[in-house]
Amino acid sequence: TIKNTPYEAIGGSQMIDVWVDAFYDKVGRHPDLIPIFPDDLTETARKQKQFLTQFLGGPPLFNEEHGHPMLRARHLPFPITPKRAEAWLSCMNQAMEEVNFPQPWREQIFNRLTKVAHHMVNTEDSD
Ligand code: HEM
Repeated sequence: TIKNTPYEAIGGSQMIDVWVDAFYDKVGRHPDLIPIFPDDLTETARKQKQFLTQFLGGPPLFNEEHGHPMLRARHLPFPITPKRAEAWLSCMNQAMEEVNFPQPWREQIFNRLTKVAHHMVNTEDSD
């Protein structure tokens, strides 16, 4: 079959599921991230699966349920420091490694996520 989108090329919802679960497993253990995330990450992971599905060219699951992502606005209630952005990206990098996320999409998508993560920063580091 022809795989026209990164979403299809990486393995669709099956890859999204294992990837996002691996990611939040790391987020839930990261000392810089624990303070701003809920204890139960089930709903957070469900929304992130919807978002990343459409981000990679799959069906617009996030928009269908929540409307426009407006990601920076949705993150304003949480103090996102440069240090937390690096922590988020470190968890993402490890998760991609763990699930054997295929190249060349791995590098390409990580680079896109790096830009989005830096755009989410809304608070200075305190130390
Ligand atoms: C939600 C932190 C970057 C996508 C959240 C939440 C936190 C958070 C605390 C709320 C969790 C909840 O209440 O369930 C961070 C931090 C980041 C970061 C510290 C570091 C820069 C990103 C990036 C993306 C993203 C790069 C895009 C790939 C989302 C989505 C949600 C979310 C889709 C759910 C929004 C909703 O509730 O509708 N994030 N985030 N985040 N984040 Fe991030």
